[in-house]
Amino acid sequence: MRPAVVTIWVFINLLFFGMCGYMYVLWSQYWLYMVGEVNPTPSPYDQQIYFYNHGFMPTEKYILIPKRKEEAKIRSRKHLKDNSTFTVVKDSKPRFPNVRNSNFELDTRKYRCKRNTNDFDCLSRTTEYKEKLLREFRRVILDESSAFKSGSENPYSVQFEGPRENVESKIPDDVLCDLKRVEFGTLKRSDLPVESYLRPFLPKRAVFENKFFNTCAIVASSGALYGSNLGRFIDSHDLVLRFNNAPTINFEKDVGKKTTIRILNSQVVTKKEFDFLNSNLYKNVTLVAWDPGNYSSSLDEWIRKPEFQLFENYMEHRRTVEKSRFYLVDPRTLWGLWRFLQSNTMSRLRKNPPSSGFLGLRLLLPICGSVDLIEYIPSTRVTKRCHYYDTDINAACTFGVWHPLAAEKLITYRLNVLNDTQVFQQGFVRIPGFKKMNC
Ligand SMILES: *[C@@H]1O[C@H](CO)[C@@H](O)[C@H](O)[C@H]1NC(C)=O
Ligand SMILES: *[C@@H]1O[C@H](CO)[C@@H](O)[C@H](O)[C@H]1NC(C)=O
Ligand SMILES: *[C@@H]1O[C@H](CO)[C@@H](O)[C@H](O)[C@H]1NC(C)=O
Repeated sequence: MRPAVVTIWVFINLLFFGMCGYMYVLWSQYWLYMVGEVNPTPSPYDQQIYFYNHGFMPTEKYILIPKRKEEAKIRSRKHLKDNSTFTVVKDSKPRFPNVRNSNFELDTRKYRCKRNTNDFDCLSRTTEYKEKLLREFRRVILDESSAFKSGSENPYSVQFEGPRENVESKIPDDVLCDLKRVEFGTLKRSDLPVESYLRPFLPKRAVFENKFFNTCAIVASSGALYGSNLGRFIDSHDLVLRFNNAPTINFEKDVGKKTTIRILNSQVVTKKEFDFLNSNLYKNVTLVAWDPGNYSSSLDEWIRKPEFQLFENYMEHRRTVEKSRFYLVDPRTLWGLWRFLQSNTMSRLRKNPPSSGFLGLRLLLPICGSVDLIEYIPSTRVTKRCHYYDTDINAACTFGVWHPLAAEKLITYRLNVLNDTQVFQQGFVRIPGFKKMNC
């Protein structure tokens, strides 16, 4: 009799706890769903952020039909009408760090040093903020790598079996020398065979070949720049690099007015809403566009099948814009940079190309005495605001949307030569140019 009673008792308990677990799952899913519903502003710049918030793609504005219609429909739930179209980057579902699990506070006013903060307090605020931020980067990296264990996505067929090390246990100069050895560059006419239709449009030389600048600034498009008052500091550099469609007009006080070079992803070159051929943002400045090919694609394969068809506008710009200085990143060199990031990170990274920010850094290091990255590592000014020029709100912009951002930032911080007050209160890191290195 007794064993039967015990068995039943255990069974009832299991049933009860099982139910509780199930209720909890339902309840948390419901809340995730509700959180997704509160903020319906689609980002015109990165619909993946929208996807992250809502679990489905924005409806109207976006063009380009996904390759596998059925799958896309399922993914986008019932919110999409059958005939509406949108862009899915490489047919892959973007992965996002689990920002909801984070206890990192993005509204970090309490860590800011004010004029009346004494040195000791300022130092302790800075240190506390820094530890929190670095912990958050490490957490995001770990979080992403575990997501990959189950059904890892590999839209670019990336293969990597090399060793993985922790950048934080390496000597910064060694890491910088590794980065110097990574090949990275823009395409020249001589890179293409004579019969290629693209060849006559390419420049004869690589970008800034044989040029040198003492001080260079990379201006991240980060929301933290809003109200930063860094404009004059930024303009004091010999070269200023900006990204995509980041404006300067009306934001001069915070981001400066000088632009030497812009790095563009291929969506900016191709999508209608950016009005690439007419906008003044892309005139009288050096342009470098990039578009990812598969991990082992040859140049020829990439030209036949880029992710976004950027060559039409590329040729048009080269043909019609006076003194067009427009370059294309050699797509094969993108993955060398990814390998660099992965070999300096213990966890597995998402198998997507590095961000434009990191490409910009590698592009400038050989031709600059030093490179200042402004609000790339978020300072205590950080908020959930994505960009200084719009009001979209999302923490994923700082910690990673699609690109392996957290790893890039952790590595960049390791290479920095300024003190923590400058990095986390003033808002920039400085990396010495390759010329100064003895590798
Ligand atoms: C183009 O840029 C140069 C140098 O930055 C500047 O001197 C010139 O005025 C600019 N021209 C136009 C039309 O904006
Ligand atoms: C890239 O790889 C995928 C899968 O391995 C393949 O389906 C696709 O055609 C490749 N694209 C190019 C441009 O080679
Ligand atoms: C950081 O560097 C700045 C500029 O060189 C200097 O004024 C400041 O005292 C330094 N702060 C600390 C905490 O070392």
